[in-house]
Amino acid sequence: MLRLHQAIFCHPTLTRYTANVELTPKDRLAVALDFPTANAALDLVDQLSGTCQWFKVGMELYYATGNSLIDTLRNRGFSVFLDLKLHDIPNTVAGAVRSATQAGASLLTIHAGGGPGMMIAAAEAATAPGSPRLLAVTVLTSMDASQLAAVGVTSSPAEQVLRLAKLAQQSGINGIVCSPEEIGILRSELGNDPLLVTPGIRPIGSDIGDQKRIATPTLAIERGASMLVVGRPITRATNPAEAAESILQEIERAAGAAPQTNRHL
Ligand code: C5P
Repeated sequence: MLRLHQAIFCHPTLTRYTANVELTPKDRLAVALDFPTANAALDLVDQLSGTCQWFKVGMELYYATGNSLIDTLRNRGFSVFLDLKLHDIPNTVAGAVRSATQAGASLLTIHAGGGPGMMIAAAEAATAPGSPRLLAVTVLTSMDASQLAAVGVTSSPAEQVLRLAKLAQQSGINGIVCSPEEIGILRSELGNDPLLVTPGIRPIGSDIGDQKRIATPTLAIERGASMLVVGRPITRATNPAEAAESILQEIERAAGAAPQTNRHL
């Protein structure tokens, strides 16, 4: 069990909340439920019940099942990370944040690429009681330098991630989604407060798939990740519970060795 410091910073004009919490490795692993139906998702959830606490519901599943799946997960005592990567005009995104609050999500993603106006509107909408904590997606982990160049971004992925993360922080969004490759630079540039959530996790020996900027759970935690998002290495494993347990053990070992400043959620 780790004694950790939880800091949630909202837009400077809005409420600032700080609390100490006890975090276990379970609090630092979100399993990505990238499935087309509730049945398929809940089949996996059943297998991971008792092992995992956080489930990430992305677009595929949410568009197929809506809020009923979120209700089911919450009624079973799980925490829901709603990964809708909101990206629209400020008014629309603020409304979506309010709807996600009604749905009962604890974490919600928006795209930092939506700009400061959009992020400030989202941060303000997320000050209502029961709102999810917001995470700004910087550069998707499936994007490398050539993919970025194709959409007109000539900076390196790390430079672009840092630019967007700073923009998010200035806009009142203190959680950042980044690849394991950028955790170190974000920690050194942004300090200890941001919640750094990291997909692109691949335990040794697992299939890389379409991810480009990846690391093992150990490396990601040692570099300062707050929470790991893991999909296929667990969901497509022959024994998902065993795969999740092995990642949780890696998190526990690595967290013991990571600098104190890196243990934030
Ligand atoms: O299966 P895998 O472990 O690659 O799944 C990673 C999950 O993290 C997917 O649900 C994906 O949508 C999500 N994600 C990502 N890169 C981001 C943000 C979210 O891969 N930048």
